[in-house]
Amino acid sequence: MRRAAREARLEGRSIGFVPTMGYLHEAHLRLLDRAVAETDLSVMSVFVNPQQFGPREDYEKYPRDEPRDRALARGRGCEIMFCPSAEHMYPAGFATSVRVKGLENKLCGISRPGHFEGVCNVVLKLVNIVGPDRLYLGQKDAQQAFILEKMIRDLDLDVSVVVRPTVREPDGLAMSSRNVYLTEAQRAQAPVLFRALKSGERAIRDGERTPLRVKKIMRRKFEDAPLARVEYLEAVDAADLETPKRLGGRVLLAGAVWFGRTRLIDNVIVKL
Ligand code: PAJ
Repeated sequence: MRRAAREARLEGRSIGFVPTMGYLHEAHLRLLDRAVAETDLSVMSVFVNPQQFGPREDYEKYPRDEPRDRALARGRGCEIMFCPSAEHMYPAGFATSVRVKGLENKLCGISRPGHFEGVCNVVLKLVNIVGPDRLYLGQKDAQQAFILEKMIRDLDLDVSVVVRPTVREPDGLAMSSRNVYLTEAQRAQAPVLFRALKSGERAIRDGERTPLRVKKIMRRKFEDAPLARVEYLEAVDAADLETPKRLGGRVLLAGAVWFGRTRLIDNVIVKL
């Protein structure tokens, strides 16, 4: 991977990089489309990163299908598919870690301690290996994108971050590799999360500025979705992920919801 990237750079070609955990869906491929359109060498990685899964999470059963991923990525113009093994990424004795303090222990970080540390470690390693000019991330994982942008700024990494909008199914459900876990009944109720976030957005646009009231409005939507268990629904300041007294500026409406043992996240940004 390093050799191919070095050769490209020597030829003056720019590199676009899309890190993923595979089981590709249309949202991953749209990120790839941008890399193909905006840079000379498009690189996608597929690596299910053990460091970002908690001990009781779905690392073992996370969906994997490398041949399918390769075919899909190649079909959309991906030049290099980088699929390192966990043994190569984390050989025995691996001991270094990067944390973005302050942003990592909020929202998803509360129920997933160590998750964003694992994300930072793997993305820093991948960026160091690939050496991209542009790093493509999805808005769907808003907290992840904020944290990685901060890490890149704080550590002076020479890469531009491009955050692309959330890609959704026709009924509003954000695409996710984890959607395949949902039963038919859960899948039918899953769009409730996006509907709730949109109702929060509408309330803010209609003048509501109290985070607690916006949260209550969003939560009400779940009365029609008995299979859903809300982990959190928040209205925070997009700059620091803190709950302000009054909403203003860029507001991040974010939620995490469980359907059985499947955890879904989504978010909407409201610019005031
Ligand atoms: P993964 O969940 O496979 O997602 C890879 C990239 O696709 C991330 O930037 C994510 O935000 C983006 N993405 C996923 N679903 C999306 C959707 N519906 N709309 C827009 N973008 C979407 O996120 C990870 O992998 C990992 O944490 C990773 C960054 C690869 C580090 O291991």
